[in-house]
Amino acid sequence: MTRVYLSPPDVGDEERRLLLDAFDSNWIAPLGPHVDAFERDVAERIDVPGALALTSGTAALHLALLLVGVAPGDDVLVPTQTFVATANVVTYVGGRPVLVDSDPDTWTIDPALVADELAARARRGRLPAAVITVDLYGQCADYDRLLATCDEFDVPVVEDAAEALGATYRRRAAGSFGAAGVFSFNGNKIITTSGGGMLVSHDEALIARARYLSTQAREPVVHYEHLAVGFNYRLSNLLAAVGRGQLRGLDDRIARRRAVNEHYRRALTDVPGIAFMPVASYGDPNFWLTCILVDPGSFGATREDIRVALEDLDIESRPTWKPLHLQPVYADAPAVGGAVSASLYDRGLCLPSGSCMAGADLDRVTDTIGSLAR
Ligand SMILES: Cc1ncc(COP(=O)(O)O)c(C=O)c1O
Repeated sequence: MTRVYLSPPDVGDEERRLLLDAFDSNWIAPLGPHVDAFERDVAERIDVPGALALTSGTAALHLALLLVGVAPGDDVLVPTQTFVATANVVTYVGGRPVLVDSDPDTWTIDPALVADELAARARRGRLPAAVITVDLYGQCADYDRLLATCDEFDVPVVEDAAEALGATYRRRAAGSFGAAGVFSFNGNKIITTSGGGMLVSHDEALIARARYLSTQAREPVVHYEHLAVGFNYRLSNLLAAVGRGQLRGLDDRIARRRAVNEHYRRALTDVPGIAFMPVASYGDPNFWLTCILVDPGSFGATREDIRVALEDLDIESRPTWKPLHLQPVYADAPAVGGAVSASLYDRGLCLPSGSCMAGADLDRVTDTIGSLAR
């Protein structure tokens, strides 16, 4: 039997056709018609005027922070429960991440803690230069509350929607909420270009400046003239072609991941000690990964017992993100709370959630979990 991966790529004939079209056109460069078209397609999908295709979600976050004005010595509020890239980009620009705990009802950054922290910092005259929100596992953060607070204190929001393409919050697309939004097309995401990312914004001037910085800050003259330090961050035309094909199937992929989530919920509903990541009433996640919480007291085994039992069957699952305040690399970063995300990490497990997952494999996962219950 072949290994069941957590979130493997799901590519087909359309992606192959577009990739070969790019290849045959000889636009084998980090620019070309598929890059332009992929940017237009994503901008239209998110309903923003500007999009910039980049080499990774991390590159997009890096540029976003520079463009909202984060400078050396600045603090940036970051959720502690996320992939490390969200905080690393703060370090890249010489800033300091301040790690904020999760809301237990959504697992995303706690809007009440953000409000308290901004108010306390306003009194001290030390507001952060930005707040990064993360749409965790494909579920949006609570933007009504977060944006109201950040607007009140005039702090820009960067939306890390790396995991959330296609998700919505009150019918608006993930990625469209901050001064800038970021997507990842890494191999494990809901759509992939093998590696890649996109920066989106309502502010076309911000996208234009990001475009300039992403191409080594080259001035528009014939010779190579540079007034600023730039980066080599543009997405290849070959990969953009794959991305276009993937985007055409996004709704279908979301539907299939939702069906995976529903299958797990149905099968495990009566198992004591197993709970699911809550789905907030304010939106529709893209169900990138289905995550459970395991209470060893009532279930009879730990999440690690489940992970090992699945691994023995060659089925990949993974603990939920280890909070950044528990990561050695950010041990010295200031933290705002942290007990909620630490407890989610102790109990949390991401189940295999790929859009091509066979029903028999879903059953093997739920049967294995059921067999460990007391
Ligand atoms: C929340 C989050 N932010 C940022 C990234 C970074 O994206 P990339 O791997 O494309 O650099 C990822 C995933 O990889 C992520 O899950």
